[in-house]
Amino acid sequence: MANIVVLGVQWGDEGKGKIVDLISEHVDIVARYQGGHNAGHTVIIDDQRVVLHLIPTGILRSGKKCVIGNGVVIDIPALMQEVNDLEKSGVNFEKRLFISDRAHVIMPYHCRADQADKQASGLQHIGTTCRGIGPAYTDKMARLGIKIGDLLDEELFAEKLKINLENRGLNQPKHFKQVFSQYIEYGRKIKPYIVDVSYYLNQALDSGERVLFEGAQGTMLDVDHGTYPYVTSSNATAGGACTGLGVGPTRIEGVLGVVKAYTTRVGNGPFPTELDDAMGEELRLLGDEYGATTGRPRRCGWFDALVVKHALRINGVESLALTKLDVLDKCRQIKLCVGYEWRNVRLTQFPANISTVQQCKPIYEELPGWLTDTRGISSLEALPAATRKYLDRIQELTGVELGLISTGPRREETIINKNTKFTNWLNI
Ligand code: GDP
Ligand code: IMO
Ligand code: MG
Repeated sequence: MANIVVLGVQWGDEGKGKIVDLISEHVDIVARYQGGHNAGHTVIIDDQRVVLHLIPTGILRSGKKCVIGNGVVIDIPALMQEVNDLEKSGVNFEKRLFISDRAHVIMPYHCRADQADKQASGLQHIGTTCRGIGPAYTDKMARLGIKIGDLLDEELFAEKLKINLENRGLNQPKHFKQVFSQYIEYGRKIKPYIVDVSYYLNQALDSGERVLFEGAQGTMLDVDHGTYPYVTSSNATAGGACTGLGVGPTRIEGVLGVVKAYTTRVGNGPFPTELDDAMGEELRLLGDEYGATTGRPRRCGWFDALVVKHALRINGVESLALTKLDVLDKCRQIKLCVGYEWRNVRLTQFPANISTVQQCKPIYEELPGWLTDTRGISSLEALPAATRKYLDRIQELTGVELGLISTGPRREETIINKNTKFTNWLNI
């Protein structure tokens, strides 16, 4: 198995959890490189539904090791809660979880600052998950952030905490004492998990262990390449795997993009193929499109080849895992966006400027639906001809192979496309 990045190529919630869980059978380590508990990665095993937020999805396969990189921001109570919940459902954490000493801590004042997003209007109203993600990354870039490793050094932590509380007008001694002692205690609790992740991972790679780099969010939510400012505050794209874990690009041998058979977005910001009609509502119902973290209804629309091509280029994606094909089973007609019309010009690339994106009208191709149940189908041959046509057209438009097609949320509800880059990476 090659060391590959698995990431979302739309606005998140593409089904990364299912795909990472499936592939993690073939690796030794699953490593998260960015984001925080804004992520919600769903895995369904038998009758159990598990949503992972901060812990890498590999934790559900016994014996696999999981790494949280320096690029991740960590809310420690949320982390401990997630560990507790997983332990209760039978997951063993012994010698399996490794947390970077350089990851930044989401502090209570970050969460409070993020709540202000709810009251914001206009461009300021991103519709965040209110988990403190943006404010924690803001402090990191402002060089004020508190790192996990700082919690193990009382003097350093006291100094940094004091500055941060003062900056926010929270400098009452009682408040300082309370936060200080609580976070020193958190540091003690998670100490057994703390390592130098770059050192740990590179050693593992040198000794032949195989690593899957797990992305959170999606390319269109990337702070550099997404629909800025309606994005998250980290690099969800492939480059983030290097900076967020301390591994060189020469360590990565492939990039698998996870893509939904249609498109969804949760939170605000432009979304050219969004359906504001009964069809959009139907996709939401059929696809059960409600946020795995916040429960918010997801905005739904047709597949957008411009979005996907933008993501394929930025990430160097060489194979796609297409998910939720079965959700389209009941659609009479299916549309694919192949271009945008903007001021009477046909655009074939996703524009950088969001006000341009907001003025774009999608140009659609229409394909007949298959009106047949594809849920659980596990071979290409068993798919209806119209379904294969839809898949072929996506492959043509994107110019990238479909290495895997998902026909349901469970592990076994999957078609593996043989003799592809994807099967080569996995050695299957
Ligand atoms: P992630 O954030 O990319 O991991 O995706 P989410 O877990 O937030 O959302 C994907 C949802 O789709 C989850 O509820 C999955 O269980 C579900 N899912 C994944 N693949 C499929 C599929 O092929 N078909 C159907 N019907 N559901 C799927
Ligand atoms: P997974 O990993 C979908 C969205 C939020 C908001 C924007 C910024 O499950 O795909 P933030 O709280 O990160 O500052 O919010 O990003 N967002 C996601 N949307 N899936 C996610 O994660 C997301 N994580 C953040 O809705 O629009
Ligand atoms: Mg999700």
